[in-house]
Amino acid sequence: MNLSTTYLGLEFKNPLIAGASPLTGSSDKIKELEDAGIAGVVLHSLFEEQINHDLHAVDHFLFQGSDSFAESLSYFPESDHLESSESEHYLEDLAEIKRSTDIPVIASLNGVSSGGWVKYAKKIQEAGAAALELNITYIPTDPMQDAREIENMYVKVLEDIKENTTLPLAVKMNPYFTNPAQMAKRFKDAGANGLVVFDNPVQVDIDLDELSPVQRANLTTSSSISETLRWCAILHSMVDISLAASTGVHTAKDVLKAVMSGADVTQMASALLKHGTGHVQTILKELEEWMEEKEYVSIEQMKGSISLDHCDNKAAYERANYMRALLTYRF
Ligand SMILES: Cc1cc2nc3c(=O)[nH]c(=O)nc-3n(C[C@H](O)[C@H](O)[C@H](O)COP(=O)(O)O)c2cc1C
Repeated sequence: MNLSTTYLGLEFKNPLIAGASPLTGSSDKIKELEDAGIAGVVLHSLFEEQINHDLHAVDHFLFQGSDSFAESLSYFPESDHLESSESEHYLEDLAEIKRSTDIPVIASLNGVSSGGWVKYAKKIQEAGAAALELNITYIPTDPMQDAREIENMYVKVLEDIKENTTLPLAVKMNPYFTNPAQMAKRFKDAGANGLVVFDNPVQVDIDLDELSPVQRANLTTSSSISETLRWCAILHSMVDISLAASTGVHTAKDVLKAVMSGADVTQMASALLKHGTGHVQTILKELEEWMEEKEYVSIEQMKGSISLDHCDNKAAYERANYMRALLTYRF
């Protein structure tokens, strides 16, 4: 049974990757995941705000009062060459994880604007990441800001990151673009090697005791996989780019569905947080059993077998299925 697959031009021994979460912020947990058979990991994100905070803190420390000694400025290193706290730890952890594991380690940067933080892509490359995942999460609240402007901002962030690294790049998408397929193509044209389909937004709620809004990173279930499957199936047939299925991958059956829809790999966060690192072994075992029973010999053989590759009018197909689902419901 050949479970190997290619994603972002990298080889993975099977299609199971641990997605960014607190679990992948711990080198011990990553080692456990590797021992359980995981094929790769995405580290938890380093945020633009963390990098900027660190750079500003260093500037403030170095240049406070230095105006009175103008010549002293020349003794100070450029702030670009300095790191501290969160961002420094991230690079140290990455280098350490890279040394202690044999699986591909994908780093994750999370930001929305152009600026000095994008230079961290270079430092992440130097620290030994195999690839870089870029999470651009922006909630527009200005009714005068039009969609194209926001989409251009996403592409600009990717271009800026691309300028600072030669690492394979994946963009972690969200499903809220008016036309995700067009954005997928724009990301590819701007240099993305892969897409993560999709990020799961943090949930908004209201704490009725405190009378205040709260936001939580909630855990998903298998029933959250629907949009992931839909868009893997559409994108596989339209854009020649690596795809990682993310959101709602919990079981071997979810992995099978995602691969058949066209995903090259699957990412799991909630399932591993819920069931622990040993869950990887269970999924791999069930995956092999299912493939053996159905006489599949490899992941490659299954990839995209239930995508929309051979469907000429994908929008009409989606519309017809939508109507059928509503009209055939029996109560
Ligand atoms: C507690 C928690 C922390 C997360 N941290 C990150 C993060 O640092 N960066 C990121 O891109 N996604 C992060 N995510 C999102 C996950 O990587 C993933 O995209 C999402 O949970 C959907 O996948 P799942 O259904 O397997 O959980 C986090 C998710 C959870 C639950």
